[in-house]
Amino acid sequence: MAQQDPTENPIQSMLTLQEIAMAARQSMDPMMWDFVSGGAESETTLRRNRQALDRLAFRPRVLRDVLDVDPSTTFLGCDLRIPVFFAPVGLMQLIWPDGGIANQIRAAESFGILTMKSCINEPEIEDVAALSPGRIAFQLYVRGDADWVDAQAQRAVDAGCQGFCLCVDLARYGRRERDLLNGFVLRRYSPIDESTALAQLDWATVDRLRTKLDMPMIIKGIATAEDARLAVEHGVDVIYVSNHGGRQLDHNRGSIQMLGEIVEAVGDKAEVVIDGGFMRGTDILKAIALGARAVGLGKLQVWALAAGGEAALVRCLEILEEEIITAMGLLGVTSLGQLDTSYITAVEPVSEPGITSSYPRFE
Ligand SMILES: Cc1cc2nc3c(=O)[nH]c(=O)nc-3n(C[C@H](O)[C@H](O)[C@H](O)COP(=O)(O)O)c2cc1C
Repeated sequence: MAQQDPTENPIQSMLTLQEIAMAARQSMDPMMWDFVSGGAESETTLRRNRQALDRLAFRPRVLRDVLDVDPSTTFLGCDLRIPVFFAPVGLMQLIWPDGGIANQIRAAESFGILTMKSCINEPEIEDVAALSPGRIAFQLYVRGDADWVDAQAQRAVDAGCQGFCLCVDLARYGRRERDLLNGFVLRRYSPIDESTALAQLDWATVDRLRTKLDMPMIIKGIATAEDARLAVEHGVDVIYVSNHGGRQLDHNRGSIQMLGEIVEAVGDKAEVVIDGGFMRGTDILKAIALGARAVGLGKLQVWALAAGGEAALVRCLEILEEEIITAMGLLGVTSLGQLDTSYITAVEPVSEPGITSSYPRFE
């Protein structure tokens, strides 16, 4: 077979996730790279997301038949080809003006995962829902009174979304010092003023929405067993463990450090998903072994979009799938359900955690 000419289709010729991250770095304006990739204040939470994942090693089992490995699962009643979904990421129209978040939605549809669409994405939910019926959840930042919130929820219902996600870790906008020092002001770009505090948002809001919404409800930004338990008591269907990728509260725990106590608190009363620092198939399998149903991609998703729109997003998922299948085979499992905490142990990390430290050839 003739060797593929990489100049013909540079995206298809990418073999590794580090190439996607590097292509994003090269194509993005440095201020935009900082906005997407940076975190709050000292970026301790951001780095801890990575460090906490790097502090986990596998305990593989051998001499098992791993000819047929199946990395699929279900989440929100939807089949996922790999245990991954696109986390809500706002303002994608600034990264890829041709279609913005529609690129993620099309890529998720063609590959076979689910997109959580942020309320601060263009196009609006009404204009993209038909691109991927049954594979979109709608994420809301509460920025209005009860009537406004209810109207947003109704939009998700009318658009036929699979779930309604309330993001609750943005009671204040995190101090992202890269953006402050770069003079990167979102108000200049967006009709939404990201610097304002949320409107009234408490458990009563959750209760009100729960009675009105006839669809699974997801709370994004749960960081403790206490709040996970409360969420279950308030009828929440999906606990989304997250520290907003280190963009909000600094000196938080790494998100994978929160997972164990939350999975234990929730039991089988809700699904648990997670995001924060996931850059590799092995990262994703660590979360599954600790009890998560699926993992959200934040920065990696945005980098793939910046690297080449829909095609690069699909390529990113294909590479992740290869990584996941390879690692499952090497762990001695053929389905995700076989993974449990016995496959994981604590170790010392081998490298300094950083934004791209998962990619040692990143330049
Ligand atoms: C550029 C960018 C925009 C984001 N916008 C939103 C948003 O609109 N709504 C939301 O709930 N989370 C938002 N997040 C947070 C992500 O949903 C997710 O929690 C986080 O990125 C996961 O960490 P990771 O980037 O290390 O994967 C955003 C993250 C990034 C990087």
